[in-house]
Amino acid sequence: MYVAPSILSADFGKLDEEIKAICDGGCDLVHVDVMDGHFVPNLTIGPVVVSSVAKVATKPLDIHLMVENNTFFVDLFAPLKPKFLTFHIEEEKHPHRLIQKIRDYGISPGVVLNPHTPPEAIEFILQDLDMVLLMSVNPGFGGQKFIPSVIEKTKRLRKMIEKQNAHVMIEVDGGVNGLNVRELDEAGVDIVVAGSYVFSSDDYESSIKSLHV
Ligand code: DX5
Ligand code: ZN
Repeated sequence: MYVAPSILSADFGKLDEEIKAICDGGCDLVHVDVMDGHFVPNLTIGPVVVSSVAKVATKPLDIHLMVENNTFFVDLFAPLKPKFLTFHIEEEKHPHRLIQKIRDYGISPGVVLNPHTPPEAIEFILQDLDMVLLMSVNPGFGGQKFIPSVIEKTKRLRKMIEKQNAHVMIEVDGGVNGLNVRELDEAGVDIVVAGSYVFSSDDYESSIKSLHV
């Protein structure tokens, strides 16, 4: 299992130290939540702050867009060269086109599915993706309760990926902790995002380790 701590739950007053601590603590990716106050009822950080994050991070960035105007935000964040750039399928009229645009930047494209969105929504773009992010909470905030239906959704998505012989990683985001990570692993998840679980612990290294199942 790869582990991507979400910096949404970090102490932004000492963000550089927090990022160093998770990278030194053995995380695989640094998950960055970009919210615009429209697609979700919360507002986070823009490219100025994320470029500082990129300078400090010794692990690749995984940027999760929760915004209305995806194309605008892709152009804004692509120059920061994240490993993954993901956008919500519910908010995009032309996902296939946007996926190609992200790939043209040399970045791995991913789409995000809200808790109600079935995996079949992306059946015909699966081959074009490097990652699918399944939300296990409603996007917008850290520290929410895990929605268990994501387990069944992961299994269905895993079957679709195998059937198509596609090379796509599955990431799950929201309410992940040391207790549900094994079930996610067994269902076929490759990457877990964890915000409050990692940043509320006294020892980031050991909380990250507990997710490395
Ligand atoms: C929610 C974000 C998550 C959030 C996860 O919209 O996408 O990345 O930070 O936080 P936890 O792990 O606390 O649920
Ligand atoms: Zn996220």
